Amino acid sequence: ADYDVIIPAAGSGKRMGAGMNKLFLEVNKRPLIAYTAEVFLKDPHCRKVILPVQPHDIENMKHVLGNMPNVEKIFFAEGGSERQYSVRNGLELAEKGGVILVHDGARPFISAKIISELANVAAEKGAAIAAVPVKDTIKRAKNHIVTETIERSSLWQVQTPQAFRAPLLKQAHETAERDGFLGTDEASLVERIGHIVHIVMGSYDNIKITTPEDLYFAEAIFKKLAG
Ligand code: CTP
Ligand code: MG
Repeated sequence: ADYDVIIPAAGSGKRMGAGMNKLFLEVNKRPLIAYTAEVFLKDPHCRKVILPVQPHDIENMKHVLGNMPNVEKIFFAEGGSERQYSVRNGLELAEKGGVILVHDGARPFISAKIISELANVAAEKGAAIAAVPVKDTIKRAKNHIVTETIERSSLWQVQTPQAFRAPLLKQAHETAERDGFLGTDEASLVERIGHIVHIVMGSYDNIKITTPEDLYFAEAIFKKLAG
């Protein structure tokens, strides 16, 4: 299915601690955001690439993305103070019908195959997210005292892209805004208005670059994918 993608890129990278937006950090001498944007710019099913960006990053973003293929598909939106608000601002530039994907700028190793599966499932069923089975044992704790071991076989580690029919995603954002609900992903907004969210198998390569050691993993994944 054809789709528009919103790539939130307006964070400040606090946990990375580089003193700048981490999306400008490089893997194999190329900024992270260039990898992420390129996958979508090259996809013939992708109509628009909408990038919410902070005003102080716009010039550098244009510089970094200026020489990419199909650069005319890029539209900049204003970044918000929270990721959810950045996505909401991006939604205003998206098509009213069809499918919208939301994909973190900080996940540069997303594959075209997962994107296409997500877009197709969302077109057919309304909402689909990429996720992988949790590998670690996860416990709940309070003040460093374990209160619960959560059964691992039902746990999924959620990634982006997350794909939705456009009217559903808009309704979910409007309802969250009305209720003052702040989620860490789009699917949580859709879940709370009672719509089913389907899982599509993601990939363990599809990491989010968050802390400094992720850059070492990213170099290794890049080499594997390039080689
Ligand atoms: N993002 C955004 N607007 C915000 C916050 C985050 O568009 N107000 C984007 C980031 O640029 C990133 C994605 O959302 O591509 C996922 O967020 P995260 O990994 O948390 O990035 P940062 O918020 O930049 O990092 P940190 O939370 O460590 O500050
Ligand atoms: Mg953040």
